[in-house]
Amino acid sequence: MEFKTLEELKQHCLQCSACDLRKSATQVVFGEGNPNATMMLIGEAPGAQEDKLGRPFVGPAGQLLDKILAAINLRREEVYIANIAKCRPPRNRLPRPAEVAACRKYVEQQIELIKPQIIVLLGALATKTLVHPDARITRMRGNWIKKEEYWMMPTFHPAALLRDASKKRPVWEDFKQIRDRLQAIDCG
Ligand code: URA
Repeated sequence: MEFKTLEELKQHCLQCSACDLRKSATQVVFGEGNPNATMMLIGEAPGAQEDKLGRPFVGPAGQLLDKILAAINLRREEVYIANIAKCRPPRNRLPRPAEVAACRKYVEQQIELIKPQIIVLLGALATKTLVHPDARITRMRGNWIKKEEYWMMPTFHPAALLRDASKKRPVWEDFKQIRDRLQAIDCG
């Protein structure tokens, strides 16, 4: 399965029925943003607001993500935002391994088509899916990982920050590293 454009991939994804999540979800949340973005951010799965509006990170975690981006002088339109799972799991449970397996081709192709220089992995699921199944977010966050041509930075998910304020400081440290690398890319 090879797609030439994000739009082609999106149209295919909107028709997907590879797992049962599509049956309980209102709609597929493909992802959005700048198709030529230098930076892509990848979360877990749509929540209630995302499922309702068809857009990623528009609920409480998304509002916090917008603030974090603003703190490094970025607007969400400048980056590309997506999730590992494109359909909302019932009651916001974690997507199951089989659901992640069914969906991962979409995020992989989004990465291939956008070719960002930096990929921010928001939380454990994105880190386990795109780095290594045994990856631990608490150990890996804050460390750059080079995978193929991409620099990946795992950090805590914004929803985790809403539950635990002590994670704010480490996430800010991680985004300062991201800001510095973005600056270096611009100047290069
Ligand atoms: N949490 C996520 O991981 N993704 C969203 O789109 C919203 C909340």
